[in-house]
Parts: sequence; C-alpha cells; structure tokens
Amino acid sequence: MSDTTAPPGLERALRASLTQLRSFEAVVRLGGVGRAARALHLAQPTVSMQMKELAAALGLVLFEPRGRGLVPTPVAERLAQAVRAMGAAWQAFEDDAADLQGLRRGRLRIAAVTTTEYFLPDLLGPFARQYPGIEIELAVENRASVVARLQRGDDELAAMMLPPTHLPLARWPFLENPLVLIAPAGHPLAARRRLKLADLVTEPLLAREAGSGTRAAAEQAFSEQGVDWPPRMALGSNEAVKHAVRAGLGLAVLSRHTLAADPASEGLAVLPVAGFPLRRHWQLVWRNDRALSLPARTLLDDLRARLHVRARPAT
Ligand code: PGA
Repeated sequence: MSDTTAPPGLERALRASLTQLRSFEAVVRLGGVGRAARALHLAQPTVSMQMKELAAALGLVLFEPRGRGLVPTPVAERLAQAVRAMGAAWQAFEDDAADLQGLRRGRLRIAAVTTTEYFLPDLLGPFARQYPGIEIELAVENRASVVARLQRGDDELAAMMLPPTHLPLARWPFLENPLVLIAPAGHPLAARRRLKLADLVTEPLLAREAGSGTRAAAEQAFSEQGVDWPPRMALGSNEAVKHAVRAGLGLAVLSRHTLAADPASEGLAVLPVAGFPLRRHWQLVWRNDRALSLPARTLLDDLRARLHVRARPAT
C-alpha cells in the first residue's frame, strides 16, 4: 500500500523558504549578516529581515547578542547542519540524474586493431545490453589506421597492442595476445617437437600488410633474434593470411586469438618454435589530454570489473 502522507519533516520545512535557509546558512558560515549579504549579492536589511522571518516561522531563537555582534545559538548551529545536509542530498540527486541522462542516449566510438575483432564484440556485450541507448561504433582497422584515428581524435577508446609513443595516452593492458608461428596442418615442420627460428627461414613467410601491428611485432622479434626473414607475400587481413597458409603458400605469425581453439580444425598447426609464442598484450588506450565521456568511463569501469589481468609492464 502506498504511503499517503508526505514525510513529516518535509511538511514542517515548508514553514521556511529555501531563500531564507540559504541566507541563514551563509550568515552562520561566514559569521555575520553583512558578510552573508555581500556573498549572496543581497542588501544587508534584506538578509536581516530574512533572519527575523525565519526565526518567527520556526519559533526558534537563532542568534543571541555577544559583545557588539550576534552569534548563532546552539539550535541555529544544528539548523545550519540540516540545511547543508539538504544541499548535499540535492547535489547527490543531481549527480545521479546527470549520470542517468548521460547513459540513456549517446554514442561511443571505439577503434580496434583487426586482431581484436575475434573477442572484442563479446567483451562489449554486457555493456551494450545494459545501456541499449548508447550506440557503439566499433572501427576495426590495422595499427597504422588506428594510430591515425587516435591522432585525429576520432574515437574515445582504442584497443591495440603497440600504442604510439608520440601521443599523450593513458593505457590499460587488458588481455594477453600471444603471437604464434603457424604452418598448414600436415606440414613436416609441424611434426617436429622443437624448432628454432633459423630452421624456418628457408620457408616462404607470409605477412600482414605494412602498417599491421602483428607484422611489426613479428619483424621486431626476428630482428631481436638476428634472423633475416623477409616476407614473400603480404596479405591484408588475418583471415587472408590463414587461407594462404592453409593453401600451403608459406608460414606466418598471427595472434593466437585469430585461430580456432583447435587450429587443426581449420587446417592449421602452431609450430613449437623457441621464443614463441611472443608474449604481447592488448591495451585499451585513450587520449589523456581529453576528458572521457560518461559512456566511455562506464565501459572502462565495466571491463575493469570483469577482466582480471595481472599488471604487467607495457610492451
Ligand atoms: P593489426 O593488429 O595487426 O591488425 O595491426 C595488431 C595489434 O594487435 O596491434
């Protein structure tokens, strides 16, 4: 059954006006009618009159003479606290209202490197379901394009493995990205128990296009191991690389996340090469010279609450 009576304190508070209460709180806080009047841009007699009317309306003595001035009585100090609590309650309401409005409708632009398309939609799912009014635009491009988008400020968040160092970015490493060397299933190298990178270089290497972070990470690893293994062919997507490897055109380095749980089911094998998988991880990054929107902050909080990635140094 609904309660038909208003909260009793609220009823009795109607004896005072909010304007009187605001002036009263200022008089107590600032220690005088004159100071309160100046702070509120009111005439001093106006504030004096408000204090008299308030005392009469509440039936309380609010100030008593001391020396040449007036000081608040103990009950006036208590009333000032109550007025501040009313202000705080209203502020909390306004904050909540802004949050609710901000998440009811809006747009969130995210850029993501191509390797993340295999799992990012799943990660965004709970947020998307909870805030159906937020339109999520997910641009899936290679690293070079994502860097250009970040530079232009096209998106609020970006998911990538190798964030650029020339932009002011906040970073949060959120998922491991092991990079593996793959061959067609049934390739003689796939039957070997251990391989060194140098054992592979006579095989053709298939690479992602220039501008790909996967390619950059692979080239960096080759050069760190002192291996010269230039690509025979460049292909513009992870799926195109997988098809070409399956067709026997060569070997490739790809994110483990681009492969099925059992790579043999798609005609591929992960080679047991020393130094592999390359242990990298994806980071969510955002410009720290711009304020994040409420939807972006909420998504970050949501992901942080659901993903428990041990802190690792950024790579
Ligand atoms: P990309 O992604 O190869 O699609 O550029 C690499 C990355 O994880 O940064």
